[in-house]
Amino acid sequence: MNFQNKHVLIGISGSIAAYKVPILVRIFLQGGADVRVVATKNALQFVTPTTIKTLTNYDVYYEMFDNVHFSGTEHISITDWADIFVIAPATANIIGKMAHGIADDTVSTSFLAFNKQVFIAPAMNVKMWNNPILQRNIDILKNLGVIFIQPESGDLACGYQGTGRMAEPLDIAKYIDDYFNSQQILSGKKIIVTAGPTHEPIDPVRFVGNKSSGKMGFAIAEALANLGAEVILISGPTCLTISHSNVKLINVTTTQDMLDKCIEYYDDVDGVIMNAAVADFRPVNFSKEKIKKSEHLTIELVKNTDILSQLAKMKKHQWLIGFALETDNELSNALEKLKSKNLDAIILNSAKDENIGMGSDYNQITIIKSDGSIIPSDVDTKKSLAHFIIEKLVVDLCNK
Ligand code: CTP
Repeated sequence: MNFQNKHVLIGISGSIAAYKVPILVRIFLQGGADVRVVATKNALQFVTPTTIKTLTNYDVYYEMFDNVHFSGTEHISITDWADIFVIAPATANIIGKMAHGIADDTVSTSFLAFNKQVFIAPAMNVKMWNNPILQRNIDILKNLGVIFIQPESGDLACGYQGTGRMAEPLDIAKYIDDYFNSQQILSGKKIIVTAGPTHEPIDPVRFVGNKSSGKMGFAIAEALANLGAEVILISGPTCLTISHSNVKLINVTTTQDMLDKCIEYYDDVDGVIMNAAVADFRPVNFSKEKIKKSEHLTIELVKNTDILSQLAKMKKHQWLIGFALETDNELSNALEKLKSKNLDAIILNSAKDENIGMGSDYNQITIIKSDGSIIPSDVDTKKSLAHFIIEKLVVDLCNK
């Protein structure tokens, strides 16, 4: 089983089957996943935080207000981190809480904050399993997209026989492995993503640049890679790293470096997502010596090549997506860029709200396609917006 690059969040609730969770954790770890665990206090009657921490290298999050190990917003950050949430074992109680939006422990609270795929492996007595209230709660969750991994029939810990025994850890892991394989909808596709700023040197220690952090481009690269695409991530200087077997990270500094690398890989790719905040100008002269302080300094700048326009001129089969950062006349300016750069779509970032966008973990975007359709997003994390862009735009372009 291959769980390389996957962030798996496991939620344990208070059933005797919790004693099997360390085995499930081991299987995910052996497959290459990074695993974190949230647990109800009752779950810790059956499995210890020390066992889990020894395996995962992370503390178990079970106290809502544990200010020593976790911040009060851990249920948000842990759910941003995770790709999937596996609640195993899930008692009738936690299923009931999740079906009705009750959030009074770390598992149900994390569930409410989680907006990606959830798997539930129930475990309980057969009479509880057959109870129509429980079955109705399961239907509510299934209708919301939660995937249930059916409990098995057999001897139950309470001495009864019947359905209610949690699926074996290996079967749970196989089920999730199959799920990940079915998600590889961009397998066989190769995509260039550019990210971050470009820097244009003035002298050995100074440069012309901008505030781009690279977070959006890296999030797009990771999301594409998780769906099976091969990604060439060409990034200007950032503080970010990425380690994903589907991502080849190429670090560049100047606009010319970025252009050269885009051209080098262009023939081979299906498309380009040009997220980099490319420096529009570079100094005419580079001073080999550090420029000494003076009352005034004038630096003459000259326009850089427009990478997207250059790629559009060389276009064969490739699709091109640009980004537009605007402070005023946002839609009309973005539309103008879409046409003048001969793009398939442009994604508008507004620079009006200082709390989102450049440098922040959050953003709001509007996708504008060349057929005139306009798709705005909500304000969301850059990781979620990466999925939004792929779902609303990239998948279609790849299948054209
Ligand atoms: N872009 C590019 N090469 C450049 C400048 C920008 O490929 N030399 C790309 C950006 O990566 C982005 C799109 O063009 O995908 C639009 O960038 P933006 O900075 O919004 O617009 P500019 O074309 O630079 O125009 P202006 O700065 O005047 O708004």
